[in-house]
This record gives sequence, structure tokens and C-alpha cells, in this order.
Amino acid sequence: MEMYNKPQHVEDTFTESNLSEYLLQAQWAEFVELKKAIMEVYKKKKSSLKILDIGIGDARILKHLFGIKELWDVIEHYNGIDVAPNCIDISNKIIKDLNIENKANVQLLDAVKLKDLNKKYDLIISTWFTVGNFYPIDFDFENFKHGDKMLTNDKFSMILKQAYELLNPNGELIIGSMYIDNDETRKKQENSYKNFGWTVTSNQKDCFTATKDGWWSQRFTQQRVYDYLDFIPKEKISFIPLDTYEFSMMVRIKK
Ligand SMILES: C[S@@+](CC[C@H](N)C(=O)[O-])C[C@H]1O[C@@H](n2cnc3c(N)ncnc32)[C@H](O)[C@@H]1O
Repeated sequence: MEMYNKPQHVEDTFTESNLSEYLLQAQWAEFVELKKAIMEVYKKKKSSLKILDIGIGDARILKHLFGIKELWDVIEHYNGIDVAPNCIDISNKIIKDLNIENKANVQLLDAVKLKDLNKKYDLIISTWFTVGNFYPIDFDFENFKHGDKMLTNDKFSMILKQAYELLNPNGELIIGSMYIDNDETRKKQENSYKNFGWTVTSNQKDCFTATKDGWWSQRFTQQRVYDYLDFIPKEKISFIPLDTYEFSMMVRIKK
């Protein structure tokens, strides 16, 4: 079962009052950087943008963009996908309530099948640690070996490769935030999950945090990003720190 199909998971992780300051402020920092990126891509294109949001969740980013007229006006269309029916229902309701069905829509789709969208976008975003949730296809939650260096991650690469291919020339792929791989970040992640009442099964040897009931979230270094995205020239990739304490970073990838 997908992590976000459990209503309790959605409740735990999407309710602001449940979130640590680290997670909450990562959302703010990410949004500030995202606004700059949107305007930069818009200025280059000189016409309104087609946006794809991979793992739209509860349509948080869409809601915040809608609230800022200057940003909403530069968007031609906002398309969201999610693998959890639960999240699609929540997002559909928001789109209906905001009365923006003409400009926004969501669909149930596993990002591993992204190319089925068969459309081109100016900006493809995947925000708030979503790409860290892409665990390897044959990952064994019950019985994984600690300390795997994870030099590859087939699901991560497969999804991001398809996303890159859906970009228009001058477009950008934006990994909104990723956890930076270090021990302090690991402990912060573990604390959050323990606060949600989840049982952590990974340890300090692992570059991800997993829980007993199927949560998975990877941490990254710049090298790990280059390794997983080896089909993209390095000079197209840039890293933006989102804080002063090595917790999270954004990755902007130019077509
Ligand atoms: C950490 S939440 C982020 C939600 C939202 N992007 C935000 O910024 O608030 C991750 C979201 O990605 C979705 N997701 C995870 N794996 C996915 C996949 N393979 N394909 C599509 N969506 C996925 C989850 O269901 C969840 O809604």
C-alpha cells in the first residue's frame, strides 16, 4: 500500500501543527526559491507557463500559488499527479472549491509512468522531499541490509529521466527540497517520525529513514544527485541550500 493512501499518514504529515519547525521552515524556504524559479523561467519564455507537479499531495503549492495573483497570472496550466487516490481526492476538492477547473487538474498516476502524460511542460516541480520517497523498485521493507551505499536508485532515476524528457526547451525541473545526508539531519528525521508514532527501522548506517509501516525517505549529497541523474550534463544542475544548518537543499535542473 502506498504511504499516502493511509488517511492517518496524510493527517500526520500534512497537518501543520504536527510538523517540526525544521519541516515547516523547509516549506517556507522552498517556496521562496520556487517563486524566483517560476519568474526566471517565465521571463525566459515570455509567455505563461505549463506546470507539472509530481506528487501534488494536498495541493499545498497550488493553493499558495493561487493566492499570489502575480504568480498565478503567469501560469497557463497547472497539472498535478499523485500515486495516492486519497491525495487526488483532496486536491480535486481544492480545485473545485477555488473554482479553477479551467486552469488546474489532477490525475492519479504513479510517477514511474510519467511519460504516459504525453505532454510538454515549462516547469516540472516535485516539492517538499517527495523525490526522497522514491524507493528502489525491489526494496525489501521487512528485510533490508543496513549500510547499503545505494550507488543507484532505479525508481528515482527512472522517474526523473521521464520528467526531464517532458520538459520544453528552456524549461526547468525543480526538485523542491531534499534532505541533506548527515547525522544531524537523520536524527531530525527520526525524531519527526517518532513524533508521528511511527517505528523507525533504519539506522545510522543507512542513507534513508524507513519505518515499519512502509515509510521511506532518502537523504542526498550532491554526488548522489549527480550519480542518479547521470543522463543530465552536470553543468545543467545547480544546488540551492534552503537553510544554514545543512538540513535541506533545492536542486534546479535546466533543460
Ligand atoms: C512529502 S509529500 C509532498 C506533497 C506536496 N508535494 C507538498 O509539497 O506538500 C509526497 C507526495 O508524493 C506522492 N508520491 C510518492 N511517490 C509517488 C509516485 N511514485 N508517484 C506519484 N506520486 C508519488 C505521495 O503520495 C505524496 O502525496
